[in-house]
Amino acid sequence: MRFLVGVALLLAGCAPKIEEVKTNVTFAEDVHSYAKPAEARVLHSELDLKVDFEKKILEGSVVHKIDGKGRIVLDTKDLHIDKVEASADGQKFDSARFALGQTDKILGAPLEVTLPEGTKFIKITYATSPSAVALQWLEASQTAGKKSPYLYTQGQPIYTRSWIPLQDSPGIRITYRARIHTQPNFFALMSANNDQRTSVPSGDYSFDMTQPIPPYLIALAVGELQFRMIGARTGVYTEKAMLDASAKEFEDLDQMVSEAERLYGTYRWDRHDVLVLPPSFPIGGMENPRLTFATPTILAGDKSLVSLISHELAHSWSGNLVTNATWSDFWLNEGFTVYVERRIQEQLYGKQRSEMEFAIEIAELKAEMAKLEPKDQHLFVNLKGRDPEEGVTLVPYVKGALMLRAIEEEVGREKWDGFIRGYFEKFAFTSITTAMFESYLKEKLPELKLNVKEWIYQPGLPASTPKIDAYLLKVVDDQLASWKKGEALDTKEWVAQQWLHFLRGLPQDLTVAQMTKLDQEFKFTQSKNSELLDAWLLLSVRNKYAPAQAALENFLSRVGRQKFIKPLYAEMAKTPEGKVKAKALFAKNKANYHPISAAAVEALFAK
Ligand code: BES
Ligand code: ZN
Repeated sequence: MRFLVGVALLLAGCAPKIEEVKTNVTFAEDVHSYAKPAEARVLHSELDLKVDFEKKILEGSVVHKIDGKGRIVLDTKDLHIDKVEASADGQKFDSARFALGQTDKILGAPLEVTLPEGTKFIKITYATSPSAVALQWLEASQTAGKKSPYLYTQGQPIYTRSWIPLQDSPGIRITYRARIHTQPNFFALMSANNDQRTSVPSGDYSFDMTQPIPPYLIALAVGELQFRMIGARTGVYTEKAMLDASAKEFEDLDQMVSEAERLYGTYRWDRHDVLVLPPSFPIGGMENPRLTFATPTILAGDKSLVSLISHELAHSWSGNLVTNATWSDFWLNEGFTVYVERRIQEQLYGKQRSEMEFAIEIAELKAEMAKLEPKDQHLFVNLKGRDPEEGVTLVPYVKGALMLRAIEEEVGREKWDGFIRGYFEKFAFTSITTAMFESYLKEKLPELKLNVKEWIYQPGLPASTPKIDAYLLKVVDDQLASWKKGEALDTKEWVAQQWLHFLRGLPQDLTVAQMTKLDQEFKFTQSKNSELLDAWLLLSVRNKYAPAQAALENFLSRVGRQKFIKPLYAEMAKTPEGKVKAKALFAKNKANYHPISAAAVEALFAK
């Protein structure tokens, strides 16, 4: 008997809890979705999709379990809708009336389905378009293994609608299941429960996400992937060629999860694995639940860039558990996440490193803010009529984290950590607005003096902005001063962030002789650290340093991470001759970029 109880407890400990989708919610108005959740909403979705690498499309169906009557409105983008059916029991489906509305460039087109009396399920049979913005289809030649093609998705902020017709608003949470069919030698992974760690590839995969998540967190990757365990509940998936390097770089992953839990409460998503994508991945990382997607450009060999992994892990609380209700509230996701990221980094690598990383982010924030219109310097940004990507600046990230740090400094760490734990607990598995955060803060910390409204609804950095004291960067500032006087440098034991600070602290305009001397001494053109190489290439373009040209072209042909490639193309395009060259390079590389990155570079040339 005792044995049985033990087993039951063990099972209860492993099995993820099935969370009810809350039905008594009110929905904030989301200007980036056509959905009318107050009339009818999706509660649960079941996907059945075939991955067609030849035609570069996903084809199949989705069944939505719904709540509501009359009609239901879904979001779509570039989808081919074959038919729509309705059902009262989920078994017997009859064809239903539907209409696809006008296409908006940013939002796509609404799909309105008329619901016969008693409808509880609708089934949509559809296919994606080869140009679906969420999907990148890589040819075998564009992968590390060179043998099989590769597909992966990027849903945030409003791209999921280009591969699934659904209510694509972060305020509308759903659970999902999926069947994915592909060639037998490929693995498919999703942001859900999956047993791919142990199974042999079969070409037929099932997934189950039992906790309600916003649609932007539905993710899929298909390719020749392998798994390596890191800790009991963590591991890494990637192509064979990157497996050793990835497992080594992320060897602290299990410990990161434990430290985060100790700070902010139980990790609620069962496993925490990382998928390392091909270098074309358009962003640094994406917090898909249970399966973070990450760029391989953080594989520096010395763990110097793993704060990105802490960041995506932090989203397991801020973002995935408690979600921004609309993209105007994005700072609730990212500001909290940068704050928690800092705390995890501090636990693992010490205060000095964490503060140094924060100081670098703050310097980046200030540089970016100088170019932003005042209205885009608010934490809460009005995005009506705009692409939500326009709200993705360092303001929600770093200004957001700075405000939370200011609160910590006023009320003390212990009290503030208690607040955050309570906040994650109280709003777990819900989507909330900035106003809801404000009133919760007032309720729990009535004594707070900080002018929160100023932070949220005014431009710039308030006078209450905390000062971040990064000793390790002061060391670099001293050396920069020496360099300017032509003195020899003492750079022994510098870590990556110090080098980065050094490169960014050099004068913008350098002579070729100065560039040559720096390169001979410090071998920047050969750097294996993507952040350093990027900073150096930027300087090289600006100062026409020809010996870095080959490295620049190589970098741009492999890497699709927008953070790197946008500034490089922009710097090239500053002169008329440079712009011609940049466009030619881009034309050559475009097929290697995810549609999101390609569009971002094209937008830059149009300026
Ligand atoms: N959730 C974001 C990525 C994102 C934001 C995608 C908005 C699309 C729209 C992710 O957590 C993130 O912030 N990634 C950063 C890295 C991080 C360390 C700052 C990135 O990709 O650069
Ligand atoms: Zn983030």
